[in-house]
Amino acid sequence: MADTPHQPSLPIADGGTALTSAAVDFARAQGVQASVAHSLEESRRATARGAKGATAQDVTLPDGTTFDLLAELDTRQRSRAAVASGETSLEASRRAAEPAVADYAPKPLYPPKFESVLSQASARALAQIASARPDGMIGDCDAMRQLAVDLDRVAPTSVSVLITGESGTGKELVARAVHDRSRRRGSFIAVNCGAIAPDLLASHLFGHERGSFTGAQQRHVGFFEQAHRGTLFLDEITEMPPALQVYLLRVLETGEVTRVGGSETIPVDVRIVAATNREPIQSIEQGKLREDLYYRLADFVIALPPLRARGSDVVLLANVFVERLNAEHGQAKQLAPDAERMLVRHGWPGNIRELRSVVQRAYLLSDGPLVRIPVLGRRAMPLHQDDSSIVFHVGMSYADVEREMLLKTLAKVDGDKTEAARVLGVSVRTIHNQLARLATGEDASHA
Ligand SMILES: Nc1ncnc2c1ncn2[C@@H]1O[C@H](COP(=O)(O)OP(=O)(O)OP(=O)(O)O)[C@@H](O)[C@H]1O
Ligand SMILES: [Mg+2]
Repeated sequence: MADTPHQPSLPIADGGTALTSAAVDFARAQGVQASVAHSLEESRRATARGAKGATAQDVTLPDGTTFDLLAELDTRQRSRAAVASGETSLEASRRAAEPAVADYAPKPLYPPKFESVLSQASARALAQIASARPDGMIGDCDAMRQLAVDLDRVAPTSVSVLITGESGTGKELVARAVHDRSRRRGSFIAVNCGAIAPDLLASHLFGHERGSFTGAQQRHVGFFEQAHRGTLFLDEITEMPPALQVYLLRVLETGEVTRVGGSETIPVDVRIVAATNREPIQSIEQGKLREDLYYRLADFVIALPPLRARGSDVVLLANVFVERLNAEHGQAKQLAPDAERMLVRHGWPGNIRELRSVVQRAYLLSDGPLVRIPVLGRRAMPLHQDDSSIVFHVGMSYADVEREMLLKTLAKVDGDKTEAARVLGVSVRTIHNQLARLATGEDASHA
């Protein structure tokens, strides 16, 4: 059976037991392709063919044991393996406990356990497929599938796009995807309107001529001109002063900018993508967003749902984040069996950004092969202002403090190690070394 890019395949090895038909039925019900192998050799070939597939194996096959095959796989392939065994020998149990074996269901098969072993193997396989997607946008719920369709439809056009959604729902990721899936050759320029002092925003956006104001020693080309033939992402659009919104609207209507202090009009071909985490209509009522600008920007509105409304995407995303960390650290960790329950129970006020930092923290703090998601209270993962402080308790070691500092900083800078190194005033290599120590469960104090 051919391997389609969005469907994992599951080679199932038949040791001559009832395992096979149960496994095949179950896998197919999960939307996973399943093929049956009758020997270790066939299973080996199926595993190699479906490089993206999960495997379910019976332990004893005519030409060897599953453990022999597992030993041949790399860590990524291994993390997709599920093993079911009728063997009760001490040797089988011992080998099943080796890190090479991702999950193990001893026989006689207890259906719920078997199901959970298989579904976790296929979840990991799906996560590996998902994480390989080029623009990194993960999601399988109806809303995200619809978004993918909408993106393909709107990206190649030049209409403005307004993206709304709570903090951490992926507005910037979507903005980049709009640009990447367009045929625009120019640059993607992102401007956070809330992060630039209001009186400097105009000259940042539209540029200025030399001497146009105190301190303007050089002529400056604004973001609009820099984004010529590309995409200008105006983040936090409601933070733009109203007077500037009026000017922006005029630029959008005429397709021309005038630099601050200049008189020449410069034609610009710029596609606008704007974003806000506020309700646009409410912002209009509050006078933060001009209605005329809103109608100009909202040719196409993408409303990103919060993570808590995306069903099992939270589990898929968590698996993807574990996969990415595995790839980065050369490990084969996986979510603990109760992770799913913990993940769907939490409300995720900080959405995908919060999920990513919870998974990263759990990953780095787990010293075995299982990543345990902690019980997350409503305030378990404080965000925004609280997220930027570290609490020291007497009795903490230097290593504890270092770890907190590193993890909080990384969460703040969206996992960007170069930026974390800059903020902490250390080299990128130091960050990498510390992360490697955490990922392998070694205490940071051995530095
Ligand atoms: N669907 C997704 N799949 C994978 N990663 C995602 C997805 N959505 C968001 N992320 C990741 O979550 C983090 C937050 O996303 P992003 O910065 O785009 O959110 P935002 O909506 O712009 O948040 P804010 O309003 O706080 O600026 C990023 O690291 C991003 O890569
Ligand atoms: Mg953002």
